[in-house]
Amino acid sequence: MFKKIIITSGPTLEPIDPVRFISNRSSGRTGYHLAMEARMRNLGPVTFITGPTVFLPSQVEVIQVETAQEMREAIGARFRQADVIIMAAAVSDYRSLKYYPEKMKKSGERLTLELVKNPDILLELGRNKRKNQILVGFAAETEDIFANAQKKLLAKNLDLLVLNEISEANPAFGSEENQVYLVRPDGVRRLEKMSKARIAALIWDDVIGLAGRS
Ligand code: CTP
Repeated sequence: MFKKIIITSGPTLEPIDPVRFISNRSSGRTGYHLAMEARMRNLGPVTFITGPTVFLPSQVEVIQVETAQEMREAIGARFRQADVIIMAAAVSDYRSLKYYPEKMKKSGERLTLELVKNPDILLELGRNKRKNQILVGFAAETEDIFANAQKKLLAKNLDLLVLNEISEANPAFGSEENQVYLVRPDGVRRLEKMSKARIAALIWDDVIGLAGRS
């Protein structure tokens, strides 16, 4: 069905010194299920590019990275050949400006760590996207969720955005279940709270529908 599928997953890990890092709560479950579902349905060869996670799919190409910059390079080398790219990874927006090669010793009562922005991989992919490529992004929002999602969809030139509303009722991160919205330029579809495996299957139904239209 597809020539090449790229799925990114997991958090990225941005080192500060040899023992410390900046990261986030992404478990990598959704990305894992997206890869397994693609394999089960025989949708095409999958390259799975992931930050540190225990959720590694079997029988697909797995590339393990740590930082956002490493993830960007791994995608960049393969982007042209791909017809579907799903960015399920929770890329750290910022990294430490400096890497301290020796473990930082504690000293004063306060410590200021300067952070610098990471490249927005999805934005770059959207800018370089060709007509026959399908680009899927994720968003985690806590307020004005639909307005922000539509903005992100346009700004990043996406075909589909999987929107997580982060709240106490729906923590999303770390849980086996999630409640999401599938946001497309032509409308929003609310999915009931369901397993991440089932969400992955419905995301693929949408992507396959989009491919049929192009
Ligand atoms: N993403 C990315 N590179 C980054 C940050 C995010 O490729 N440096 C991708 C993620 O893989 C995901 C989407 O962008 O598909 C997530 O966007 P999100 O973090 O929700 O929002 P941002 O675009 O970072 O904007 P903001 O944090 O301001 O909401």
